[in-house]
Amino acid sequence: MKAIVCKELGPPESLVYEEVADIAPAANEVRIKVVSAGVNFPDTLIIQGKYQFRGTPPFTPGAEVAGLVIAVGSKVKRLKIGDAVAAVVPIGGYAEAVNAAEEAVMPLPADFDLVMGGGFLLAYGTVMHALKQRGSLKAGETLLVLGAAGGVGLAAVQIGKRMGARVIAAASSADKLALCRAQGADEVIDYSQESLKEAVKKLTRGQGADVIFDPVGGELAQECFSSIAWSGRHLVVGFAAGTIPEIALNRLLLKGAATLGVFWGAFIAREPQVSLQNHQQLFAWIAAGELKPYVSKTYPLKDAAQALRDMLDRKVTGKIVLLP
Ligand SMILES: NC(=O)c1ccc[n+]([C@@H]2O[C@H](COP(=O)([O-])OP(=O)(O)OC[C@H]3O[C@@H](n4cnc5c(N)ncnc54)[C@H](OP(=O)(O)O)[C@@H]3O)[C@@H](O)[C@H]2O)c1
Repeated sequence: MKAIVCKELGPPESLVYEEVADIAPAANEVRIKVVSAGVNFPDTLIIQGKYQFRGTPPFTPGAEVAGLVIAVGSKVKRLKIGDAVAAVVPIGGYAEAVNAAEEAVMPLPADFDLVMGGGFLLAYGTVMHALKQRGSLKAGETLLVLGAAGGVGLAAVQIGKRMGARVIAAASSADKLALCRAQGADEVIDYSQESLKEAVKKLTRGQGADVIFDPVGGELAQECFSSIAWSGRHLVVGFAAGTIPEIALNRLLLKGAATLGVFWGAFIAREPQVSLQNHQQLFAWIAAGELKPYVSKTYPLKDAAQALRDMLDRKVTGKIVLLP
């Protein structure tokens, strides 16, 4: 089968598309024929050896897929050949087929769009966990989303809106913000043109945002503490800007506020039942037409390097997926 291989750590351009061996699933695994493989920001870091999880070359990147079960290990109980599934995998998703542990595989509802499915579990699962379990977002509260046109950002705009929040989307260009508006944002801030702090102040009549969804970090995160409401929650989701900000604790004290870490990968391992409930809620919203995960672009599998380059260059909106 064909796969993308990271033969040495480096930029996307060092990835290779080549023939690799087909490997039968272990006893607790299923083999999935990949219909779509989600591209996520951590993939850009893993191939460079800059992520908390380090792969040892040669390896195939890719942390999530959707597709069809084509083989099952001897101890697998819940799944059978032909099932339509989505799965999270430590590595290996950028391939025509991948093995996944049974507990990391989620059967998809009938008629679920498998192309969209490859970009669904990780981003939408992260956002549900962030807004529900970590941020305790309530209807009527104000949610500020940074990097709002990106993968998790746009999911936060959509899910925040569905949860009844007033959503302020913040991003770096007019085009990105037009997309956020089209996906439900009530207000927008272009932080390449205006001060985040002043704009939030104006849009919230000086009160600040109740919940801040922050996948960007860096200087913008610092500005968040001037933009947070009394009793507000700052959700630390990621550091796409490349710098991990430091917080002066007096800023939290003065606002009676909290900074909360969000780590979906650990959450699904430690609290699988709560994670399942989150996904059932997401599936129900999708089935009812109340949520439509947004895939902006598909790339052939062989063009994985281009997809990752676009992500690093901030050209990507919503989710992008690779099609083997
Ligand atoms: N904690 C978790 O469990 C979890 C789960 C999934 C993802 N994440 C993290 O969330 C972050 C976003 O992931 P994603 O897959 O949504 O990525 P993405 O689609 O590329 O979105 C990231 C957004 O960050 C903004 N950004 C600001 N500075 C950037 C820079 N120097 N390079 C690239 N983007 C920059 C961009 O928006 P503007 O151009 O509008 O600023 C971009 O749209 C990553 O740090 C990822 O590791 C965490």
